Amino acid sequence: MVQRRIPRIKDLAPLMKFKTPELNAKKRRLDGALTISDLRVIARKRTPKAAFDYTEGAAEAEISLGRARQAFEDIEFHPSILRDVSTVSTGWDVLGAPVEQPFGIAPTGFTRMMQTEGEIAGAHAAARAGIPFALSTMGTTSIEDVKAANPNGRNWFQLYMWKDRDRSMALVDRAAKAGYDTLLVTVDVPVAGARLRDRRNGFSIPPALTLGTVVNALPRPEWWINFLTTEPLSFASLDRWSGTVAELLDTMFDPTVDFEDLAWIKAQWPGRVVVKGVQNLDDAKRLVDLGVDGITLSNHGGRQLDRAPIPFHLLPQVAREVGAHTEVHLDTGIMSGADVVASIALGARFTMIGRAYLYGLMAGGEAGVDRTIAILSEQVARTMRLLGVNALEELDPRHVTQLSRLQPVAAPLVAAAEAVPVRKAPVRRASNASDSASAVVTGTPVNRAPKKTAPAQ
Ligand SMILES: Cc1cc2nc3c(=O)[nH]c(=O)nc-3n(C[C@H](O)[C@H](O)[C@H](O)COP(=O)(O)O)c2cc1C
Repeated sequence: MVQRRIPRIKDLAPLMKFKTPELNAKKRRLDGALTISDLRVIARKRTPKAAFDYTEGAAEAEISLGRARQAFEDIEFHPSILRDVSTVSTGWDVLGAPVEQPFGIAPTGFTRMMQTEGEIAGAHAAARAGIPFALSTMGTTSIEDVKAANPNGRNWFQLYMWKDRDRSMALVDRAAKAGYDTLLVTVDVPVAGARLRDRRNGFSIPPALTLGTVVNALPRPEWWINFLTTEPLSFASLDRWSGTVAELLDTMFDPTVDFEDLAWIKAQWPGRVVVKGVQNLDDAKRLVDLGVDGITLSNHGGRQLDRAPIPFHLLPQVAREVGAHTEVHLDTGIMSGADVVASIALGARFTMIGRAYLYGLMAGGEAGVDRTIAILSEQVARTMRLLGVNALEELDPRHVTQLSRLQPVAAPLVAAAEAVPVRKAPVRRASNASDSASAVVTGTPVNRAPKKTAPAQ
């Protein structure tokens, strides 16, 4: 029988912890977001459907993106116990200069359409956090304005090679003159991927005012007020365009670009060169032979070839084979600091975030990007401490096992492909293909520090 008594005020008093309510609605909203997924939920409520879908969507059935995120979820961490983790350092050198976190902001096009503060918000937040900000060729803020927003920090310029090479190289020249330290050459867009959400939404640049968009705008007045009362959306480096994104890409981009062109581009750039969109080991090796400073394993956030390889699955082998000669970076699917730590453990020198940054931007402009970076930074540091490491250099493949649902039935034919006559021999399917989770990566050490990087020219 429970003995009851009259509650006493002196027992209740310590339990009563009424906080002063946060009057700043944006701060309240952002502080309440504890994960990138929480920011996504806020972003979705505040952004018109067509712009949100353009950001969130991927190509065709969006299988690549789902698989990339699943691959990060399907890992097992292996912590070491009884280590002094009272201090933890999350920075090191990337491409010859320090970064405070092992992640940076990936290049994204049309950023001011997602939220009016656009690239300036990203550049300011990156500067505060001590991480690089990458401006896209399809950016909506000029090369010089982004540099001015992040004058002492690291700015990277992302190049898409257009059919009009003189215009492309004029951009490269402007970026070099403005003091960008790294050129990211994106090579996975010979043609535009099929972004079906955009087609279904009738999404165009600039956004068209139809009955549907007006109805969708009603619960999102702030976006529209911002959109209508700030500088009209235009490309930082292109003339005005009117049409869908895919039409724009297909009109502008040069599908003939090859390794020779890349060597030529590299020779024009005085700083570091990273090739973004690498998806197999053979290409990674050819790029090392060309002397690039880094490669980014990426399938463009699943926005180009659907069912492309999962960059995180390619990582251990690529890092092992070429990591001693060039830096291996990775993006696609990163939604938490734990994903970043797992990538570093398996040999990446650096990672990039696309949507995670944009969800923050759409949720609260510059303060939202700060929140994204704060969430990821906290997660990186906590994951490292829980693994029992103090510094990124201590992370290695023993800390992570990749559990695979999608095992290839046969190894991809890469190096041998040119020698083997196409379609002569039937490909034998192994009988043990299964969907069950099983460990595919063991703790083989990766080559961590690049021995050689091409001299800055
Ligand atoms: C809305 C959006 C626009 C993008 N625009 C570009 C671009 O202009 N140039 C580029 O190289 N990559 C672009 N990307 C790809 C990102 O740089 C990056 O590879 C990708 O977002 C990483 O995947 P994540 O979004 O899962 O982090 C874009 C991605 C998104 C989501």
